[in-house]
Amino acid sequence: MEKRAFIKSYGCQMNVYDATRMADQLRAAGYAVVEEAEGADLVLLNTCHIREKAAEKVYSELGRLKGAVGASGAPTMIGVAGCVAQAEGEEIIRRQPRVDFVVGPQAYHHLPDLIAKAGAGAKPVATELDEDKFEHLAKPQRRAVTARGVTAFLTVQEGCDKFCAFCVVPYTRGAEVSRPVADVMDEAAQLVDAGVREITLLGQNVNAYHGADGRGGTASLADLVGRLSQLGGLARIRFTTSHPNDMGEDLIAAHRDEPKLMPYLHLPVQAGSDRILKAMNRKHTAEAYVELIGRIRAARPDLALSGDFIVGFPGERDEDFEATMTLVRDVTYASAYSFKYSPRPGTPAAGREDQVPADVASERLQRLQALLTAQQKAFNQSIVGRTVPVLIEKPGRRSDQLVGRSPYLQPVHVAASAGGIGEIVDVSITSAEGNSLFGEVPAGRSAAA
Ligand code: SAH
Ligand code: SF4
Ligand code: F3S
Repeated sequence: MEKRAFIKSYGCQMNVYDATRMADQLRAAGYAVVEEAEGADLVLLNTCHIREKAAEKVYSELGRLKGAVGASGAPTMIGVAGCVAQAEGEEIIRRQPRVDFVVGPQAYHHLPDLIAKAGAGAKPVATELDEDKFEHLAKPQRRAVTARGVTAFLTVQEGCDKFCAFCVVPYTRGAEVSRPVADVMDEAAQLVDAGVREITLLGQNVNAYHGADGRGGTASLADLVGRLSQLGGLARIRFTTSHPNDMGEDLIAAHRDEPKLMPYLHLPVQAGSDRILKAMNRKHTAEAYVELIGRIRAARPDLALSGDFIVGFPGERDEDFEATMTLVRDVTYASAYSFKYSPRPGTPAAGREDQVPADVASERLQRLQALLTAQQKAFNQSIVGRTVPVLIEKPGRRSDQLVGRSPYLQPVHVAASAGGIGEIVDVSITSAEGNSLFGEVPAGRSAAA
């Protein structure tokens, strides 16, 4: 009987993408990749180390998996992948001896070998940082692609050289590496052939992309977006996550000139106080960020802006936090993520003695989130009454509904008669509730693409 493997991913979109590539590795090693842990012969936890809570989740999941058995009744093989694997290595096996192997994000091409060794009773750990990761991985398989639907992630850049004082990513994902343009184009063409209509280009600093262009030079992210736009069946292009200091003029211009590039940008600022930005090693001021947003909006006035914020960074005073609130009021976001600072082992800020008390940080987070939620609501309301093109992605929770996304990444619920999955339909937005929009297809209108 074919062995079954289950991959559970935590953390960011890059882990979601990596899971698709690991699934291909596992299939090549003879596994069927299934959707639930129950009865799986192999469970792979694809972990996140960004905040303490994320990392601790892994150990509670491992505790739950302790007694797991596969279809044959033999104990399920358990592997830990992702950023906790990279950061903690063999410590994971010391803490939870039930774990059979550990594999860091740049060693996934070793999976078949690790599984074989673990099967023979060894407890292998593979955490070398290999900058040629993508070259070593099995080519993405079409079967995996088809099952994924009409939107897909595609990692074009991995790693980070920025070393923000709070962040583990430069340690867990290694130095910044860009994939060659030809590789990206091949994978994108394969996705489009399999029916994908929207591709989100991924990178920890995706706008720092500088992939080999095959002519001895390098291509920028804007160049790559230009190339991808020429793929006939591809309707929408997005990218995430960007750093303010890598926002080139050509990428700003692409938001004006390239109709397939969606008017949505995730551009984290983290804080609004220059003193804190400096301590965070962000290498830009609040004013520079606000000015940058102004230029981007001049190029694309309807752009939906998203961001990340950290409150309670060591040394953050009331007036620093107020500067963050002021920045948010000035900039206005369509959506945003905000977090309480979490000290991470090995990062410069973790050792500081001026940590902010938990209750102060919680109170600040509440205030910031109230403001961001109000801005998101206002943004969603501003779309009510407008007609927007919606890419239909999947059936809705109710059988008479479909769910798609607006250009601004909002989920849109429409009647099932609106169009087929993968079509772009003009939807007249009638209401906004929570994070979602609801709409209908105006009578006499048909699919726009
Ligand atoms: N590469 C992206 C995102 C990295 S992680 C970028 O540079 O923007 C995603 C978000 O998690 C960060 O933007 C930051 O807001 C948050 N984050 C990272 N480390 C954190 C920590 N130690 N405590 C709290 N939030 C953190
Ligand atoms: Fe982390 Fe900063 Fe790099 Fe983003 S830019 S991944 S926050 S170190
Ligand atoms: Fe988490 Fe690693 Fe992504 S720490 S956010 S899974 S890069």
